[in-house]
Amino acid sequence: MLLKQPSKTPDLYSSQVAPLVEKAMNGFNSTVFAYGQTGSGKSFTMTGHPAELGIIPCAVDGVFDAITVDMDRAFLLRVSYIEIYNETLRDLLNFKKNKDAPAIHTNKGKVYVEPLVEEIVSTPQDVMKLLSKGNEGRKVGATDWNDRSSRSHCVFTIVIESRPRDGDGDDDIRLSRLNLIDLAGSEKAVSDLERRGEGKHINQSLLALREVINKLTEKKRSHIPYRNSKLTHLLENALGGDSNICVICTISAEEEHASETLETLKFAGRCSQVETKAKKNLLSSERALIRAKDAEIDELKNRLQHLVSDGVRLDAPSSSSHVSEVSCNMLRQYRKLTIPAGRLRRRPRE
Ligand SMILES: Nc1ncnc2c1ncn2[C@@H]1O[C@H](COP(=O)(O)OP(=O)(O)O)[C@@H](O)[C@H]1O
Ligand SMILES: [Mg+2]
Repeated sequence: MLLKQPSKTPDLYSSQVAPLVEKAMNGFNSTVFAYGQTGSGKSFTMTGHPAELGIIPCAVDGVFDAITVDMDRAFLLRVSYIEIYNETLRDLLNFKKNKDAPAIHTNKGKVYVEPLVEEIVSTPQDVMKLLSKGNEGRKVGATDWNDRSSRSHCVFTIVIESRPRDGDGDDDIRLSRLNLIDLAGSEKAVSDLERRGEGKHINQSLLALREVINKLTEKKRSHIPYRNSKLTHLLENALGGDSNICVICTISAEEEHASETLETLKFAGRCSQVETKAKKNLLSSERALIRAKDAEIDELKNRLQHLVSDGVRLDAPSSSSHVSEVSCNMLRQYRKLTIPAGRLRRRPRE
């Protein structure tokens, strides 16, 4: 779809992305990309700006709004944030000094990353804090941040697990991934000289993405080279049809960018021909993290109730009391694990 009128990101979100978020709330994987040359507005569209909310904050609001109106299901949310730079993966939410680099693995056709921090979140504020902490890590890790940001891909994922509130409901535990991706700039190398300069502007992952999309639209299906790059390997399941996909293409209107604009439009045309067939993902109760957390929540609730009946005040702990400190930690943990239904908790607007 071509946006003919100047349109704000929240409008784009409502018309094109909100239906995918709704599907993700019901167990269908969803993936949103921003593709285009450097400076054309990918990050502006995905992350946003104080003056205009981006797709990611809109989606975060969308997820929590859906949770607050769904009185029948309990949810567990986790987020992860991966950067792919020069074909190397980095976990932007792992703040430890000595950490193992994340790697892509495959098990029974399912692609996953390990080790990877998946932080449990229970408010929109939690999510936005993690996102900005992750972005900080990205800046600190690079001396050439501008260059790096135009050459790295960022994959922000919200993992959504849910179960019916009433009864056992073990046959209806749903799990989905909502991937929100800010890609590197799509411009090609200008000259061989530049091409030799430390691989400047050559982004293997983007080349591979274009190739994979081309192959996916060919009538006669041949081998799809997902493993040619980290990005396409990471997104193998999603691109292979296991996810609903929305590709947002950003272009620069100036004449000097005409050839890149044409390339981007061609890419958009190709993407619109890719067929997806996402299925609802159901989990067995043994594999559901939400079930394990249910037990943890019950245990914490019991211990907190005992503390209250022993006269400990949870709302005003004194720093000198060990019991208060323990109860305060337990309460924090309990709050982190529970998203109450029916209470609208939106992210404050800037
Ligand atoms: N629709 C828009 N309205 C106003 N400013 C924009 C818009 N799109 C991009 N910009 C501005 O243009 C600059 C480049 O955008 P950016 O999103 O960083 O590009 P990219 O991520 O594609 O390299 C930024 O300063 C951004 O704030
Ligand atoms: Mg950018």
